[in-house]
Amino acid sequence: MSTTILAIESSCDETSASVCIDGKILSNIIANQKVHEQYGGVVPELASRAHMQNIVPVVDAALSTANCQLSTIDAIAFTQAPGLIGSLLVGSQFAKSLSLALNKPLIAVHHMQAHVLANLIAEPKPTFPFLCLTVSGGHTQIVVAHSPTQLEIIGETIDDAAGEAFDKSAKMLGLPYPGGPLIDKHAQNGDPKKFKFAEPQIQGLDFSFSGLKTSVLYFLRDEKLKDENFIENNVDDLCASVQFTIINILMKKLKKATEQTGIKQVCIAGGVSANKGLRNALKEYGEKYNWQTFNPAFEYCTDNAAMIAITAYYKFLAKDYADLSVTATARAEW
Ligand code: KG4
Ligand code: ZN
Repeated sequence: MSTTILAIESSCDETSASVCIDGKILSNIIANQKVHEQYGGVVPELASRAHMQNIVPVVDAALSTANCQLSTIDAIAFTQAPGLIGSLLVGSQFAKSLSLALNKPLIAVHHMQAHVLANLIAEPKPTFPFLCLTVSGGHTQIVVAHSPTQLEIIGETIDDAAGEAFDKSAKMLGLPYPGGPLIDKHAQNGDPKKFKFAEPQIQGLDFSFSGLKTSVLYFLRDEKLKDENFIENNVDDLCASVQFTIINILMKKLKKATEQTGIKQVCIAGGVSANKGLRNALKEYGEKYNWQTFNPAFEYCTDNAAMIAITAYYKFLAKDYADLSVTATARAEW
């Protein structure tokens, strides 16, 4: 007998739905919200309203793309935490209502665990235990995945996330929100060693990005005093140099984690794992240090419901269901 899961992701500013049968993703529909661009960041209230408008058409599209009826769904999964509370509530209430109406089990998924398990969507897949560097807009973590349901954080940021370091640097360079993908684009034509920015000295496997932000800010302030068009004249090299510094900070810690754990199956995940420089760095480290490396396809790096569906599939196998009293949570441990 096959298992069909409908999954919903609405933690931030993407409304997404996915259908997965026996761990195979059949659809992954994502509605992006353009409304936030003009404000230079996500406006929570506008995000919730857009989710309300998007959720029914997005779920419909996920079902029809997968050629699937509501009556054949075996379980409904949703992102329970962490995220913007108003956004999470739209997805969680929708999923709970559908679970009640169809009388099918409900599965609550942790967004950051789902980013890690996005590496299990397509072949080649890592085998357990594996390490994952999860880099998103709100989190930066090194995780040991012992099994699909046993994930352990062994390092994380003590201040900004890697995605924030990208987005805040981009903002200082006059690039629109979210700046991460634009830094990636400009960096491809720039010299990563042209400018040098501060790298933090943090013990253990934790990260810090606030020093880098200050270093970029003061550097640009000083250079603009000498040449008011400094940013315009050097945007590609600036992007390449900022990106190079962020990647160095990330990869040095990831290497340390492989040495401490002895694990050589190494994955990346989260929005920043779409970054071409980071994907190349992972490959290079893999070749140099004899790691087996994995990264999700681009569509499974930034927020998407397919990663919620694959995580829910393993929870379904473990019969790890939620009841209707489950609530969305903005911040959540795992
Ligand atoms: O995982 P995600 O979609 O949402 C969160 O859970 O936060 O991550 C979004 C973050 C943003 O900071 C965005 O700028 C960054 O991922 N990002 C990138 C790239 N694509 C997305 N950063 C650098 N290079 C990219 N290509
Ligand atoms: Zn995310």
